[in-house]
Amino acid sequence: HHPLIPHRAFQTFPATPPKTPADFAFAFDIDGVLLRSSTPIPGAHDALTFLQKQRIPFILLTNGGGKSETERVREVSEKLDVELDVSMFVQSHTPFAGMKQYHDKTVLVVGGDGDNCQRVAEEHYGFENVVTPGDIVCAYPDVWPFAKVFLDYYKGFAKPLPKPINPASPADGLKIDAIFVYNDPRDWGLDATIILDLLLSAQGRLGTLSPKNGDEALPNRGYQQDAQPSLYYSNPDLWWASSYHLPRLGQGGFRDAFAGLWSSVTKGAELTKTVIGKPHQPTYEFAEEKLRAHRKQLFGQVGLNDPLRRVYMVGDNPESDIRGANGYKSPHGSEWKSVLVKTGVYQESTKPSCEPTVIVEDVAEAVRWAVEDGR
Ligand code: G3P
Ligand code: MG
Repeated sequence: HHPLIPHRAFQTFPATPPKTPADFAFAFDIDGVLLRSSTPIPGAHDALTFLQKQRIPFILLTNGGGKSETERVREVSEKLDVELDVSMFVQSHTPFAGMKQYHDKTVLVVGGDGDNCQRVAEEHYGFENVVTPGDIVCAYPDVWPFAKVFLDYYKGFAKPLPKPINPASPADGLKIDAIFVYNDPRDWGLDATIILDLLLSAQGRLGTLSPKNGDEALPNRGYQQDAQPSLYYSNPDLWWASSYHLPRLGQGGFRDAFAGLWSSVTKGAELTKTVIGKPHQPTYEFAEEKLRAHRKQLFGQVGLNDPLRRVYMVGDNPESDIRGANGYKSPHGSEWKSVLVKTGVYQESTKPSCEPTVIVEDVAEAVRWAVEDGR
């Protein structure tokens, strides 16, 4: 029992959980709220267990990733000693599964340990031809001269590249139609080099150069110029709360570093990209659909319209959790309130870069405050 959740909270709730769903629910961020890397944050177990006992639904909504939802939710469930499953779990790249227009195309997947993200894309999301920068550097070691020291690591998981149509001319080499950054790149040098090569290439063909030098505003030069490969980022976080006592650079750090390279290399050409993840609207819409489906699973059909009216987003990062909840426009008309905890990126007694509904010590107090607020 956590001191911050007074016995009163147990006494004031009906002994037998309600049959109909409460009109409110929670969305919990993971890093900095429930865990610091793999260490549970005090009170996290009690907070989630309390809600489960009271049948108050919640989802986990993280900008993290790098593994399948099944694998990640099992890990988090074990660390927190709380029953969790994929029906209540949204990671940074989960929405990529729905991008069926690329499932049969050849895509580059960047980030994460080894080929974990490649396997997520192929085995869980239905992508058929997935290539990693590791596959490319093993096929063409000179593509990034400084990767030689890491080659043993890459050889541990690299796969042969899809066969080029006509290896004779580089223009018929490997063609990448889209680039997905799933998780934090481990080797910013190699990953940035490969992404840069592909965005500067003719029609996404590795080893070629488009005369446009990346500037889409320039006219096509006499041959059919497919659009450059599309670039998708899954997580905007510049900082995140790991086991180190100071926030660490997240995928947003890599994105900003790449933007600097792009600007220098193309002399300021616009970089066309799509960024999902908190604080962006599409990720919150995706999360609300997941939450509503989870509530239906818990309570059976809750009639045509679920009485869900309020969602408490509990997070540690003002720029992702708080800004996202504050700015989210629910298509169902639910109101999202933002609860900022002091156990992650946000540093106590500083002014948060985005004002939350309330600032509390930690996730246990967040639940207590919200349960009172919801009365
Ligand atoms: O890579 C994970 C980091 O960006 C933050 O994750 O759980 O705090 O959204 P989370
Ligand atoms: Mg966080």
